[in-house]
Amino acid sequence: MPGDARRALADVVERRIGMMPEAYRAALLAVDRADFVRREDVSRAWFDEPLPLDTPHGRGVATVSAPHMYVLGFEALGLGPGDRLLELGSGSGYGAALAAHVVGSEGYVTTVEADPHLARIALRTTAHLPNVRVLHDDGLRRGDLLASHTKCWLTFAVGELPSAFLDQLPPGAVLVAPVGPPHDQRLLRYIRGADGVAVEDLGAVCFVSARPLIEESGS
Ligand SMILES: C[S@@+](CC[C@H](N)C(=O)[O-])C[C@H]1O[C@@H](n2cnc3c(N)ncnc32)[C@H](O)[C@@H]1O
Repeated sequence: MPGDARRALADVVERRIGMMPEAYRAALLAVDRADFVRREDVSRAWFDEPLPLDTPHGRGVATVSAPHMYVLGFEALGLGPGDRLLELGSGSGYGAALAAHVVGSEGYVTTVEADPHLARIALRTTAHLPNVRVLHDDGLRRGDLLASHTKCWLTFAVGELPSAFLDQLPPGAVLVAPVGPPHDQRLLRYIRGADGVAVEDLGAVCFVSARPLIEESGS
């Protein structure tokens, strides 16, 4: 993506959601979104809109989210240098690549993808980033990973966050998730404190829905 187009994208995002921290803007400029979209969508890569991802395991089940959604997510998490981010829903790896720039070499990003086709794509697109690890699994069943991360966010919507997952949120860790039925979700922030988990409603969002794990041989 030419530098001018990347700067224009960052400007559009700021016009939409307000000034963003310099580190988030730097990540938008550093990561070429064209590397994460379908070949036929490359000309739209620098527009602030979600773009579809193809997978043999379903239609309309995955997108590269609109860039401003990553910035909103990072702001909700308070993502910064040294953070250890657990991302559920890798898609093609764009969010993980942006986050890797924000957390820097002192931090790391673990991203979990249920679809083996997309997990392979994310593995390829983030292979040059030493602080990104891609796992093929059902993220909602990997609450065990929460202990080794400071922040967690879901890039797909859940009707309700499974308590078996939430129960493993360590003290002080921040979890951000779109919760609610298709097309009517709220972005919720969970923080475990001394008195239990505090939940804050950050507003309306629209994400693709959670999917079950698709085994490597699945069709
Ligand atoms: C909005 S898309 C991904 C956005 C992605 N972060 C990006 O940068 O392009 C949501 C992704 O979550 C994945 N997903 C849905 N349910 C999942 C689950 N239970 N565990 C892991 N990944 C899941 C979908 O296959 C899809 O790739």
